[in-house]
Amino acid sequence: MNEKETKGIFVTFEGIDGSGKSTQANSLLRRVQENGFNAVLFREPGGTRISEQIRQILLNTKHTEMVAITEVLLYSAARAQLTEEMVIPGLHENDIVICDRYYDSTTAYQGYGRGINMEFINALTSEAANRIEPDLTFLVDVSVDLAEKRSSTIGKRDRIELESIEFKKKVIEGFREIAENNPNRIVILDGSEDIEQLTDIAWNKIHTLLEKEGIEIAPEGNSESI
Ligand SMILES: Nc1ncnc2c1ncn2[C@@H]1O[C@H](COP(=O)(O)OP(=O)(O)OP(=O)(O)O)[C@@H](O)[C@H]1O
Ligand SMILES: [Mg+2]
Repeated sequence: MNEKETKGIFVTFEGIDGSGKSTQANSLLRRVQENGFNAVLFREPGGTRISEQIRQILLNTKHTEMVAITEVLLYSAARAQLTEEMVIPGLHENDIVICDRYYDSTTAYQGYGRGINMEFINALTSEAANRIEPDLTFLVDVSVDLAEKRSSTIGKRDRIELESIEFKKKVIEGFREIAENNPNRIVILDGSEDIEQLTDIAWNKIHTLLEKEGIEIAPEGNSESI
């Protein structure tokens, strides 16, 4: 997070569909709240009235005609609303803001996956996020096979989840390359491990960062989640 006047730390979860991001994001939210810190959790695309409507357009399985450039612009539009309406205010009011996906997903899916020009993606994602950067990102890394197995237990698949195995492999490789390029920000979690074990690792990292930033438990917590 660049805006020094905000008090909170910004944490994101990334990974392919079915990797276990939402499970970890929720589990971490509970853990930080149990430890007395104020935290909020948002999902991408979504988290605001406009962003949730954009989500419906993006994930509708009937929208097979959607071209890649429309896709990247819509994800970015949803993110711009979420950032202004929720993330920035959230960072002023809370110790921790957690996002279930943020701009690394755009780089992985629309950049590595769909092949959209990376310079364009970088410029667009930076603008859409109002130049805010996550302080810490957890990449929940699993094989395509495991992610497919987990997704199949959930039921109905959205437009992106119906993509080919080949596309998903490109996205996974993309995420791994993004992590290699950002070793100070991105921590890779082995998503095949036990849920609680992964939360222990994530919480340890967060705790260290909170201490480093001098963020302490407020006398009265008012944590919430949407
Ligand atoms: N570490 C884990 N061990 C075993 N099962 C897990 C683990 N993490 C998640 N799961 C299970 O895998 C399924 C997918 O998890 P989850 O919904 O968190 O994935 P996701 O990455 O958020 O997927 P999507 O991108 O589709 O939202 C769920 O049924 C969840 O309970
Ligand atoms: Mg999820």
